[in-house]
Amino acid sequence: MFYSDELIEDIQNKNDIVDVVSEYVKLNKKGGTYFGLCPFHNEKTGSFSVSPNKQMFYCFGCGVGGSVYTFLMKYENATFQEAIKMLADRAGVSLPEVELSGEDKKKRELKNTLLDINKLAAKFYVYQLRNESGEIGRKYFANRNLSEETITKFGLGYSGKYADALYMYLKKQGYSDDILKETGLFTFKDAKVYDKFFNRVMFPIMDINSKVIGFGGRVMGDGEPKYLNSPETKVFDKSRNLYGLNQARSSRKPNIIICEGYMDVIALHQAGFNNAVASLGTAFTSGQASLLKRYTKEVLLTYDSDGAGVKAALRAIPMLKSVGMTVRVINMRPYKDPDEFIKNLGADEFQKRIDDAENYFIYEANALKNNYDMHNPQQTNDYYNEIAKRLLEFDDEIERTVYMESVSRECMIPLDILKKLVARLALTYTGEKEYVQPKSGNNKKNEKDDGVKKSQRLLLTWLIDDSLIYSKIKNIISEDDFTTPLYKEVARQLFEQLEENRLNPAKIINHFENEEEQNEVAKLFNTTLDSEMDIKEKEKAINDIVLKVKKNSLDNLSRNASDIETLQKIIIEQKNISNMHISLG
Ligand code: UTP
Ligand code: MN
Repeated sequence: MFYSDELIEDIQNKNDIVDVVSEYVKLNKKGGTYFGLCPFHNEKTGSFSVSPNKQMFYCFGCGVGGSVYTFLMKYENATFQEAIKMLADRAGVSLPEVELSGEDKKKRELKNTLLDINKLAAKFYVYQLRNESGEIGRKYFANRNLSEETITKFGLGYSGKYADALYMYLKKQGYSDDILKETGLFTFKDAKVYDKFFNRVMFPIMDINSKVIGFGGRVMGDGEPKYLNSPETKVFDKSRNLYGLNQARSSRKPNIIICEGYMDVIALHQAGFNNAVASLGTAFTSGQASLLKRYTKEVLLTYDSDGAGVKAALRAIPMLKSVGMTVRVINMRPYKDPDEFIKNLGADEFQKRIDDAENYFIYEANALKNNYDMHNPQQTNDYYNEIAKRLLEFDDEIERTVYMESVSRECMIPLDILKKLVARLALTYTGEKEYVQPKSGNNKKNEKDDGVKKSQRLLLTWLIDDSLIYSKIKNIISEDDFTTPLYKEVARQLFEQLEENRLNPAKIINHFENEEEQNEVAKLFNTTLDSEMDIKEKEKAINDIVLKVKKNSLDNLSRNASDIETLQKIIIEQKNISNMHISLG
């Protein structure tokens, strides 16, 4: 953190969130809260709320929320530092020269330097594309029907024929080898340094705030690999970014299109589908699913129509479903990818394919059919059974019926047979989602992690919702029992504030520098717990949750304990908590 907590709080106090947000969004007062249309997703009814008491905003539609700083970061695509500057200016507060705080500041500086270098590299590649030697690249883009405007919009470039041009350029700017090593743009070998990218057209990869975090480069001609991507670096996390999301996030479309390649994203944007994104030369990840969840409720998959594309789609669907997204799949046949489709049939036809996109369930059911020989009665029967099993995953009766009817129609399964199978299977159904992901030790571990994380989150929500609870558990739970780093930090500050009887949500939010973390913290402060619970039920819930959190924390300690004495202490504590009872009466 560059600035002290006090200063950040002071600037915040001088910028009332209602005033600041009102400069961007029309707000209406309802009770003690203000409401308006959410500027971060497309909506017709106002689910966007601003609370003067909490000095927070929160959208009940898309789940985005935070302090006045978060609002500016999101709306203005600003970093935390920049948001602080804006609000300091707005309130006439002068900022001190950057304050040091050891390790953190070093890390941040390194990141900033890497971002600076990436920006310079991107400019360098753009320059190479524009000068004489860039003719190959310019021709290539022209061949692929990219307009001048599109090339500029995506910052496309060319890396030139010489294998050390970028290196020489950056050395001239005064960067050391040590820092250049961290960029992932160079190969250091036998006292020589080479540019990783040469003779490739270049695609700068940006994070949601449009900062260049890495590159993809496409070979000219038939070399291998066809696409070369920057390795992960301190600023480039492939599993938490998506190509094109910096633009797609403000597309104001009701959904986001996921495709496979950089060129697909670009072709789609150029054709008016400015809501397209792609993963970064790796398979789609659950981190990307939760990132997308912040911007949309529906995803359209346009993976390649080949075997690998179908496989990739089948992998992505459960991840998207598990974060609560609606998923449909676009059929691009007879073309391979969106780029080729649009080149041949144009944007209007693609729009039709979007309108006709198949529900994920039907898509999966059809894909599954290929695993069975439909001329063989036994296999046909197995297939029907598999579909029936999947139908049982829908808890909602109406939803299940709708899917049953459509899958019967689309996959030609007689409806009466399907109904019977579902009814029969329902008798022995355990509710275990067997098919969603292959069973492996790893997945079990993730599930367990999710459960632990959830109980820690719930405990924080309870503490925020009802400060009485804090006094009941403060001798049992400490910040160290929160094994999820983000929650540990929230707990630390929350306990401090509760101790002083001075709850200040915005201050806790402001302790986190990135938007995603700020959102997650904001969510904690906007989750309403079930008010219908009577005291007995509440007591039971609290006891369960505290026990879970404490048990996990002690298990962790005992796993890491290095001597007998510590271990014995832990065992005693473990015994104690199993007898613990928190009484709310
Ligand atoms: P494809 O091989 O499907 O190519 O790669 P494409 O998008 O149709 O490319 P063009 O049209 O021939 O230019 C899709 C994506 O997979 C990753 C890249 O992110 C690419 O955009 N990829 C592909 C790699 O990372 N490395 C490769 O060698 C190939
Ligand atoms: Mn292609």
